[in-house]
Amino acid sequence: MRVLLIIGGQSTENEVSRMSAQNIYKNIDKKHDVKVLGISKDGIWYELKNMIFTSDNWLEDASIVKDTLTYIRTFDVAFPILHGKFGEDGTIQGLLELAGISYVGMNVMSSSIALNKVYTKILLKNYNINMVPSLYIKKKKDSFVIINDDFEEDENILDNVKKKFGYPVFVKASNQGSSVGCYKVESEDELYNKLKMAGSYDDIILIEKAINAKELEVAVLGNEDVLVSNVGEILPHGEFYTYDSKYNDKESKVLIPANITDEESEYIRKTSKKIFKILDGHGLSRCDFFKDKDTGKIYFNEINTMPGFTNISMYPMLIENMGINGTELIERLISLALEK
Ligand SMILES: Nc1ncnc2c1ncn2[C@@H]1O[C@H](COP(=O)(O)OP(=O)(O)O)[C@@H](O)[C@H]1O
Ligand SMILES: [Mg+2]
Repeated sequence: MRVLLIIGGQSTENEVSRMSAQNIYKNIDKKHDVKVLGISKDGIWYELKNMIFTSDNWLEDASIVKDTLTYIRTFDVAFPILHGKFGEDGTIQGLLELAGISYVGMNVMSSSIALNKVYTKILLKNYNINMVPSLYIKKKKDSFVIINDDFEEDENILDNVKKKFGYPVFVKASNQGSSVGCYKVESEDELYNKLKMAGSYDDIILIEKAINAKELEVAVLGNEDVLVSNVGEILPHGEFYTYDSKYNDKESKVLIPANITDEESEYIRKTSKKIFKILDGHGLSRCDFFKDKDTGKIYFNEINTMPGFTNISMYPMLIENMGINGTELIERLISLALEK
């Protein structure tokens, strides 16, 4: 099989993608003819010679790929190991569709909705899934408005936040991952500053009630028939699970299975499968939940259609916990891509 790994990318998660890709490259069965396409932050496509992706000079000796469609078409299957904008949002999936090549993971529509925190909520509201109360905020030139349930604009953000949930709240750019553009806001004075910061990543922003969260994650693998893993628990070091506590803090730990009841675990696993199906899921996903430590209530937070495969990433650990090792996981993902 000629397999194309696509790595790097134009999003804020270029480095994370390369950490994920390093593990996938290490584990992929070398019976395949594997080539690696690196996308630089400024969107130039290279075929790589150097197989150490995590170093700063990862593009050294690489040759530029000019005719991308023709190049892609020489492969049997593509594995876009890209996180975030232009990688996990349906754009690269659209290109792979146009090239007519099989690829690992979710299709255009599912990817696009899942990478948009606001539109994921709008869709899932119809299906009786508990989510943390939130407001949909839109950036308009230099100001911000609430988009209310009638899809009308309301400028009264401070009053609404105070009335609906009080502080602290989370402000999140809708299309980011790895906690980029995601801020905890302790008081009203900081709100507009954090909206501006989130607004530098995306025009669509979420304000969400902050909860005292236990963070729970589930791996889903399959197309029509899906495997749903045990629930894992993140034990973030620091105030919340920030970019640094995710990738740079060795004190952040994971626990499999999570320290929750069997009923809670069943609810979370069932809901993960349901969300995967609602999105017309293919391949893989990691569904993330919060349990409010004060009330015990469980909330769905987000679905990641290309979860991390870094050394400390939960997805491969949850799959390994089901008795499927890294090499077998990649084989399954390739088979799932070919059968869809
Ligand atoms: N409403 C919330 N209450 C408490 N913590 C939150 C909330 N929203 C986000 N967080 C914290 O911020 C982290 C990143 O937010 P998340 O919505 O998962 O975005 P990302 O796509 O960047 O992972 C979460 O893992 C959690 O630690
Ligand atoms: Mg998250």
